[in-house]
Amino acid sequence: MRKIHISVLQPGMRVGRALYNSSGQLLLSAGTILTRKTIARLEMAAIPAVYVDDGFLKDPAIVDVVSEEIRVQAVRQVRELLAEAAVPGTGTAVVAISEIKETVSEIIDQLLKNPDVVFNLIDIRAIDDYTFGHSVSVSVLSLLTGITLGYSREELLALGMGALLHDVGKTVIPDSILNKAGKLSPEEFALVREHPERGFRMLLQIPGVSASSALIALQHHERYQGQGYPRGLRGDEIHEFAVICGVADVFDALVADRVYRRAYPVHEAYELIAGSGNFLFDYRIVQAFLQNVAAYPVGTLVRLSTGETGVVIEARRGMALYPKVRILFDREGSACEPYEMDLWKEREVLISGVVEGDLGTRRTAEKQPLDS
Ligand SMILES: [Fe+2]
Repeated sequence: MRKIHISVLQPGMRVGRALYNSSGQLLLSAGTILTRKTIARLEMAAIPAVYVDDGFLKDPAIVDVVSEEIRVQAVRQVRELLAEAAVPGTGTAVVAISEIKETVSEIIDQLLKNPDVVFNLIDIRAIDDYTFGHSVSVSVLSLLTGITLGYSREELLALGMGALLHDVGKTVIPDSILNKAGKLSPEEFALVREHPERGFRMLLQIPGVSASSALIALQHHERYQGQGYPRGLRGDEIHEFAVICGVADVFDALVADRVYRRAYPVHEAYELIAGSGNFLFDYRIVQAFLQNVAAYPVGTLVRLSTGETGVVIEARRGMALYPKVRILFDREGSACEPYEMDLWKEREVLISGVVEGDLGTRRTAEKQPLDS
């Protein structure tokens, strides 16, 4: 299974992973054979990419760290809670905070049950339906980091809840500003920068949300050397939960397609985070975060320093830069009898690049600053 950008989807390709919108409606089921009509529909729905089984790679399975069912449920619940937060009293299907807590608890159970699974699968959302899926991925990435740091169950629950609701203060900002492709006016910028304080105040008013969860909303844009907002806090002044959420927030934002730019390749996002230790974020937290993320997710086509090309078939915890690769093309670029190479064992062989081109990972838009 590989993630293929919409611009290079072809009729006849088989969908490898179901796609849902944030209300939990199924847009595309796994196994569907794409037609021109389906592809056009996906374009209309602003879906940036699809996971495809094309047989070419003998389709290594990509395992999500949490089940599809719980991810869809979490996205739907966050959407309902944020809709209610935006205009109190008008939520159509108000979800109780206790239900969200149960969902976070279930996510924690699933993560603890699979201690060796790394974050391999980048969740795909419609470009204009980004927030809720993003919130869930930030929560999952934060929890993985918390587990690596040895947090208690109680700490994990507070971290997971706060990370899930970290952007609740954005609900009062119009989408036209949040999704604006151009530069924000000073007034718009000031409004966006209010979301941590607004979110903090909103969360403090919700019974059942702990103060440490609310602090995540307040401090997730603070940065290690004081470059962040709203207070310009530094180092240890920032709550550790908020640092974790900040790292997860930046990483997941980079690897997602946005209105104003294409997604960064995962290894570039990985390198940006790796280089942010004791600059944007506490080094110790960055290291714990990176333990759980595959720099080259399963299904990525990579070129090796030997000149051979292959597909990543296994990414392991703590060995992010050294996946197992199935070689498909020899040094001359000719298709060869596939064989496996474990880059953790073949340490003199390095990944020299990700094969992009018509595989759909090529970025066409300009790079955005890391922390925009
Ligand atoms: Fe935020």
